[in-house]
Amino acid sequence: RIDHAIRPRALGDYIGQPQVREQLDIFITAARQRSDSLDHTLIFGPPGLGKTTLAHIIAAEMGVDIKSTSGPVLEKAGDLAAMLTNLQPGDVLFIDEIHRLSSAVEEVLYPAMEDYQLDIMIGEGPAARSIKLDLPRFTLVGATTRAGLLTAPLRDRFGIVQRLEFYAIDELTHIVNRSAALMGFDSDHEGAVEVARRARGTPRIANRLLRRVRDFAQVKGDGRLTAEIADRALNMLHVDRHGLDHMDRRLLLTMIEKFDGGPVGVESLAAAISEERDTIEDVLEPYLIQQGFMLRTARGRMVTRLAWQHFGLSPGDDVPDAP
Ligand code: ADE
Repeated sequence: RIDHAIRPRALGDYIGQPQVREQLDIFITAARQRSDSLDHTLIFGPPGLGKTTLAHIIAAEMGVDIKSTSGPVLEKAGDLAAMLTNLQPGDVLFIDEIHRLSSAVEEVLYPAMEDYQLDIMIGEGPAARSIKLDLPRFTLVGATTRAGLLTAPLRDRFGIVQRLEFYAIDELTHIVNRSAALMGFDSDHEGAVEVARRARGTPRIANRLLRRVRDFAQVKGDGRLTAEIADRALNMLHVDRHGLDHMDRRLLLTMIEKFDGGPVGVESLAAAISEERDTIEDVLEPYLIQQGFMLRTARGRMVTRLAWQHFGLSPGDDVPDAP
């Protein structure tokens, strides 16, 4: 996939997340100066903001290899043991969706993170034995959508915790321009801004929309990215002026039409739109809350005045404003 060519490989090529970049630059430089491994690092934030990209950048900047896996893939303690015993000193072990590790696997991870010790039971019954192995110093990079999903003992074992935020329009514009240049797609500034505005604050979405706009420009335009071509292509894809897609609108409209704007519990909402609760909490609502279209209250989710107005509806007097 083209993604591979578009992803930044060095911290200096990474756009946005200025606090994350500044801190990682310091911690990586310090570890390198001491010829030490980087401390274990937890990266959290909504999908598509660059957690995996940052894990690869950390390994590249540290000059080490990265081995990647994910929480659901590590079914048994032995699966994690196999990964850990395959590491060279300093290597990065990247575990995506780290909140989905089973407790049996987590138990193996604790002494590995803390003391670089592998402590594992092999065999069953009378022949069962416990074996202890020294592991090389390694860096665990864990990624998750919400830090609150991790158990406290796991969270506490990360020395570095970084939270990724939605990107600002000017940052996404920069990313779109960079990606367009790498794709050989001739773009003007307004065209890049239009794609950026409608990308839900998310580089992965910006790059995906950019590819579709390029197709549209090639077939319906003169092959150049302009604001007009971007607008027409994105309208065709049902991405609205605010960057809301079909699912975003369905969630908000369901809250308005079926629940009179809320408050409504997330489980009832999930049932009403036939989606997983996790999808609502991890994918849909973080951006809608950040943009002020909905709120999370003690009694449930509510849409704001802005959401009613977005659909050309008039909100009642008791509809809340975004904070
Ligand atoms: N492509 C995707 N995310 C990016 C980022 N944060 N910086 C540069 N290019 C990117």
